[in-house]
Formats: sequence, structure tokens, C-alpha cells
Amino acid sequence: MEDGIVISRIPITDKRYQQVYDLREEVLRKPIGLSLKNEDLTSDAINAIFIAEKDNKVIGCVMLYPIDDEEKIKLRQMAVDGDWQGKGVGRMLVEAAETYAKQQGYSSIILHARSVSEGFYKKLGYYTTSSEFTEVGIPHVVMEKDIF
Ligand SMILES: CC(C)(COP(=O)(O)OP(=O)(O)OC[C@H]1O[C@@H](n2cnc3c(N)ncnc32)[C@H](O)[C@@H]1OP(=O)(O)O)[C@@H](O)C(=O)NCCC(=O)NCCS
Repeated sequence: MEDGIVISRIPITDKRYQQVYDLREEVLRKPIGLSLKNEDLTSDAINAIFIAEKDNKVIGCVMLYPIDDEEKIKLRQMAVDGDWQGKGVGRMLVEAAETYAKQQGYSSIILHARSVSEGFYKKLGYYTTSSEFTEVGIPHVVMEKDIF
């Protein structure tokens, strides 16, 4: 793991939210030919937003989205800057999100994993609960982890 990486939770009003938006656009949308500009992001305001920073630059993010379920919360928009992938940043972000979800009283996290990232979540203890389906034009699976 790299030194000097700081994980924090920010409100949508934080000025670093713009960097989170830019990172999501670069890592999660551009490579599949889409843009966040065409999406309704109003629900971002009710998400818990976690960021990883190195030297005051946002290099990773993930969000927790409350769904209509008291037990489960949904992890979404997991992205690590291309220069920083494979260095433990994703793991740090998911662990921070899990700790927060536990503190909030949730007992499980669910997510829609891109099939290419299924191995990442498996490493972190998530198990697959669906067959493959298409979301934003690419293959996904539903995954889940008990956190109590
Ligand atoms: C997938 C992603 C979030 C992982 O974050 P990361 O910081 O690169 O991953 P980490 O370095 O924390 O990896 C943690 C572990 O998972 C493994 N891992 C990472 N990506 C993997 C993948 N795609 N498949 C299998 N294993 C993977 C790592 O080797 C590491 O294993 P180790 O602990 O045995 O060394 C990041 O690579 C990314 O942003 N990718 C592009 C966007 C994307 O696919 N996002 C997910 C959308 S669901």
C-alpha cells in the first residue's frame, strides 16, 4: 500500500465533489463511450461519498446509496485513477465504506459489479448472487457481502 493516501467522506457540497465527478467521467464513463452529462445525478445528494486523496488530488471514489431496504445499502461508482489502480486504493475505499455502513446499522452491502471487476470484489469477500445482465451497455453481476 502507498503512503500518504487519505480516505475521507465528503458531502456533495464539498468542492472536491467536482474532482469526484471528473474521475467518474474519466474512469467509468468515457471508456464505454458514455457521459455523466446525460445522466440524472440528483440522487448523488443522498449518497455517502468517499474519496481517496494523494497530495490533495482525488485518485479514487466510491459511493453508498440508500435503497428501499433497512438492512442493505448499495455500493456504487467505484473508481480508481488509472495511474493508481492495483495499489490498494480500491480496497481502502471499500473498507471505509463498509465501516461506515456498519456504523449506520446496515448488515449487508450489495452492488452491481462490472464482470471485469468481479474478481476485485471477490477478493474483498463479496459473493455473486445473480447471473450476468447488461447495465450501461456492459456485463454486470449482482454481488453482496454480510458486514455484521
Ligand atoms: C476495479 C477497481 C475499482 C479496483 O481498484 P484498485 O485500487 O485497482 O484495486 P486494489 O489494488 O485495491 O485491489 C485489491 C485486490 O483486488 C485485486 N484486483 C483488483 N482489480 C481486480 C480485477 N479487475 N480482477 C481481479 N482482481 C482484481 C488486486 O490484485 C488486489 O488483490 P491482492 O490484495 O491479493 O493484492 C479499479 O481497478 C478501477 O477503478 N477499475 C476501472 C473501473 C471499474 O471497473 N470500476 C468498478 C465498477 S463495478
